[in-house]
Amino acid sequence: MKGTVELTHPAQHHSQSGPLPKILAPGHDADRGGLLALISGHHDALKSELQQAGGLLFRGWGLKGAHDFEAALDAAQFKEMPYVGGAAPRSAVTGGRIMTANESPAHEKIPLHHEMAQTPNPPDYIFFYCNHAPGAGGATTLLDSRLAFETLLRIDPKLVERLDKEGVRYTRVMPYETDAGSPIGRSWRETFNVNSRSEAEIAMRNAKMSWEWLEGQNLKTQSSSTAAIGWDRQRQRRTFFNSVIAAFTGWYDSRNDGAKAVHFGGGDPLSQTSIDTFLEATQNLQVNMPWEAGDMLWLDNRLILHARQPYEGDREVFAAIAQD
Ligand SMILES: [Fe+2]
Repeated sequence: MKGTVELTHPAQHHSQSGPLPKILAPGHDADRGGLLALISGHHDALKSELQQAGGLLFRGWGLKGAHDFEAALDAAQFKEMPYVGGAAPRSAVTGGRIMTANESPAHEKIPLHHEMAQTPNPPDYIFFYCNHAPGAGGATTLLDSRLAFETLLRIDPKLVERLDKEGVRYTRVMPYETDAGSPIGRSWRETFNVNSRSEAEIAMRNAKMSWEWLEGQNLKTQSSSTAAIGWDRQRQRRTFFNSVIAAFTGWYDSRNDGAKAVHFGGGDPLSQTSIDTFLEATQNLQVNMPWEAGDMLWLDNRLILHARQPYEGDREVFAAIAQD
C-alpha cells in the first residue's frame, strides 16, 4: 500500500495467505497523523488486507496512548461493540471503546482462543495496542485457525466430526464481584452488564443458556450447544472456531475446573489427551510476536486464535472489539 513498507520479522509464520502478521511500517517519516490519514483514505483496502492476512501489525507510526488507538479504529470505521458476555476481567480506558487487555496475573499464560467464541455473537475483529512493552515475555501468540483446523483433521478426524455434528457446551461459574486474580474472574453483573439476578436471567434466557444460582451469589452457567467449527467465507475453508482450548487449559480458578468446563453438545466430556495432542501438533504454526510500545495489531477474530505469554515487569496492552 502506498505510503507503507512491509517489514519482516523472524517470528512471523508464512502460509498461502502470506505472513502472519503482516507488518506495515511508514514508507518515510510518517507520524500518527500520517497513519490516521492512510487509514481513513483506505479503510476498505485495509479491511480486505486484514481478511486476507488474518493479522495486520502497524509498527513505527508513533501512536501514543489509548486515544490514538481509538482514533485509528474510528478512522477505519470499525463498528464499535460492547464487551458483553466475555470472561476476562477488564476495565475501560478511554470511556469509549478501549478496554484493558485481560488483566489476569503476569505469570499465567492466557491460552489460545477466538475472542468470545463461547458466546452467541462473537466479534468479527479484535484490536490490540501496546502502550508499554514488558521487560521480558508477554508476547501475543497468534495461530491461523484454518491451519489449526487442517491439523486437527489430519490427526483426529473423529474429533472433528463430533465437534462439527454436536458443537460444544461451555460451563462457567461467575462470581458476584469481579475477581481480578482469575483469568475468567469477570463477575456475572459485568459479564451480562446487569445489576440484579432477574436482569441476569433475562440476558441468559436470550443467550439460550441454562443456569444455577450457587452459594455466595455465584452463578453457574452452561451455554446451549455452540458451533465449534467455523467457516472462512473468503477462502471457503473451515476453521477451528471455538473456546475449547481456552476452557480446557485455562478455565481454572477457585470456582472452576477447566477439565469440566467443556462438553460435546450431546453431553459427553472432551478428552484431555486429544486436546494436548492437538496443541502439540500446532506448535510450529504458532507465532509469538514480541510487542514494541506504539504497536497496533488488528486481528480478524474469525480467522486467528490469540493467546498471551507470561511476562515480567509492566505490560500495558489495550484492546477493543468490533463487528463487521
Ligand atoms: Fe482474548
